[in-house]
Amino acid sequence: MRVGYVQMEPVFGNPRTNLVRARELLGRERADLWVLPELFNTGYVFASHHEVRELAEPVPDGPTTRSLVEVAQELRSCIVAGVAEWSDSRAYNAAVVVTPGGALPVYRKVHLFAEEKRWFAPGNTPFPVFEFGGAKVGVMICFDHFFPEAARTLGLRGAQIIAHPANLVLPGVAQRTMTTRALENRLFTATANRVGTEERGGTALRFTGLSQIVSPVGTLLASSPEEGEDVQVVDVDLSLATDKHINPWNDLYADRRPEFYV
Ligand code: ACM
Repeated sequence: MRVGYVQMEPVFGNPRTNLVRARELLGRERADLWVLPELFNTGYVFASHHEVRELAEPVPDGPTTRSLVEVAQELRSCIVAGVAEWSDSRAYNAAVVVTPGGALPVYRKVHLFAEEKRWFAPGNTPFPVFEFGGAKVGVMICFDHFFPEAARTLGLRGAQIIAHPANLVLPGVAQRTMTTRALENRLFTATANRVGTEERGGTALRFTGLSQIVSPVGTLLASSPEEGEDVQVVDVDLSLATDKHINPWNDLYADRRPEFYV
C-alpha cells in the first residue's frame, strides 16, 4: 500500500482556500491512503464561539466532507482529514475518513489540548479502525499521542497503521511518542502536521511541521522539515504490522498482563 501525508499551512477561517490548496498538494504524488493535518479546513486558533459556529460543518453533509469525497473519487484514494464538525449544537475537533464510496463514520478527538477545551466538546466516538483496500486503518488526532491507551486501543482493534492528523506546537515531542506508539504496538504510524503561525485573540502559536511515517520497528520511513509545506509518500507492507512477535518468545499483545494494570 502506498501511504502519504500532506504537511500544509492552512489559512485561518477559509475552508474553500484550504481545500483547494490541499487538492493541489495531493496532486503532487499518488497514494492509496492520504493523511491531512488536524483542522486542515479551518485553521486552529479560534477567538470566539461565534467563529467556531460559523466554521464548523456537518459531517458528512457539509461542503468540506462532500468535496473531499469528490477528491477521493478523483484520486481513487482514501483520505483522513481533520475538520471542525458541527453536530447536535456542539462543535467537535474531528477527523473525517473519505473513500471513493463516500464518508465513513467520523472520529471526534477524545483528548482535547489546551484552549481546544474552550471551543470543542470532548469526543464521544470510539477510536475507529476501518478497512480500505485490504488495509486496517486506525485514526487518532494530535494530542491523543500523549495517551498510550489511544494507540493501544487502535492496535488491539486490529489497526495496521494509525492515521494521525496533527497541529503540533512542541517540536520533536510527538515525533518521539509516535515512534514509541509504533514500536510498542508494532504498527505503522503516519502523522500529518501543519506549519505556519497563527496569532489571533491574544494567542500566538507556531506549528512545528516534522510530519513523519514510522515503521512497526520504529524506523523513520518519511519525514518533513520543521517549516514549509511538503508531501511525502512511501510504499509499505502492512502485513508487517500483523504479527506482534518481537522474538519467538514474546508477542507484544499476547504477553500483556492486564490483570496487573490499572
Ligand atoms: C494538539 O493536540 N493540537 C496539540
